[in-house]
Amino acid sequence: MKEIKSIAVVCGGDSGEYEISVKSGEVVVKNLDPTKYKAFLLFICGKDWYHQDSAGNKYQVDKNDFSILINGQKITFDAVFNAIHGTPGEDGKLLGYLDMMKIPYTSCSMVTSALTFHKDYCKRVVKTHGMMVAESVLLTKNHLLPVEEIIKTTGLPAFVKPNNGGSSVGVSKVKTAEEMMPAIEKALLEDGEVLVESFIAGREIGCGVLESKGRMIVFPITEIVSKKEFFDYEAKYTEGMSDEITPAPVDEETETLIKATGAYLYQRIGCKGFVRFDFILTPKDLYFLEVNTVPGISPASIIPKQAGIMGIALEQLFGMALENII
Ligand SMILES: Nc1ncnc2c1ncn2[C@@H]1O[C@H](COP(=O)(O)OP(=O)(O)O)[C@@H](O)[C@H]1O
Ligand SMILES: [Mg+2]
Repeated sequence: MKEIKSIAVVCGGDSGEYEISVKSGEVVVKNLDPTKYKAFLLFICGKDWYHQDSAGNKYQVDKNDFSILINGQKITFDAVFNAIHGTPGEDGKLLGYLDMMKIPYTSCSMVTSALTFHKDYCKRVVKTHGMMVAESVLLTKNHLLPVEEIIKTTGLPAFVKPNNGGSSVGVSKVKTAEEMMPAIEKALLEDGEVLVESFIAGREIGCGVLESKGRMIVFPITEIVSKKEFFDYEAKYTEGMSDEITPAPVDEETETLIKATGAYLYQRIGCKGFVRFDFILTPKDLYFLEVNTVPGISPASIIPKQAGIMGIALEQLFGMALENII
């Protein structure tokens, strides 16, 4: 009989995506094949790292070797399933620690995660691979620019967002010069760096990609039609506030272009596990918006739905991410 692998499903983190991440972690634990894996939900909250069992008992993680002690029995992990959206799971920090502990993890490497989480750097790299990206200005609390100067580069409307963030927390669409400073201040509450981008008018498309054991899968693409002004937090997480249409109703040539671009970028920036590229399709071009290296994984999230259409259930999807590393 094959040995059952011990998996730490890490969740929580230190960002506005904490609650979403805990839900993601619970979904993973529930959907790992129990004949192959024994899953432990681990909360990573600042310096407080602990496992909590279903009865609510807490067990601190020993950071010297990433282990827990349950009833005198030391439990170590064969792999980590990363379900932390935002810092420190999606920006590389925790991954650097896991590299040092020599524990494999499902998501992208530390370097790719650090790159992709920094929206500005990521856009610069993706641009060198031939992608269209929105014009933008990067600001920090101590290096702000006069509003007129920002608008000279980005025009109006513009998007103001935390440079390192997710789930649209702190993101605003700015239509007038007067709205710019309050939007920047709002984004600064989430992150020390703020990105102001030109508004790209087009259709928003999500493209999920997963490479497992050398086999690249590009999932059917999804068009996101928000009922709000853009795909904001409410539209993302409130039932009925957005339509997510899979497969996206685009012609075959466009579909091929988007999928090929997703697969190409996955390789160029060295991704691992399942990631979701978000693009904006304009009548003339395909713009790269961002890439999510720890994308939503609840049954209602985009990648699980895309995989479902291909006949890949959650258990199989999560299994593929683990089989790729152990
Ligand atoms: N430059 C842009 N042009 C048009 N829409 C944008 C632009 N930037 C962001 N958006 C909208 O805001 C949402 C959130 O922005 P995004 O950069 O994806 O941040 P997050 O990492 O928080 O998801 C996008 O899904 C899209 O609806
Ligand atoms: Mg996004």
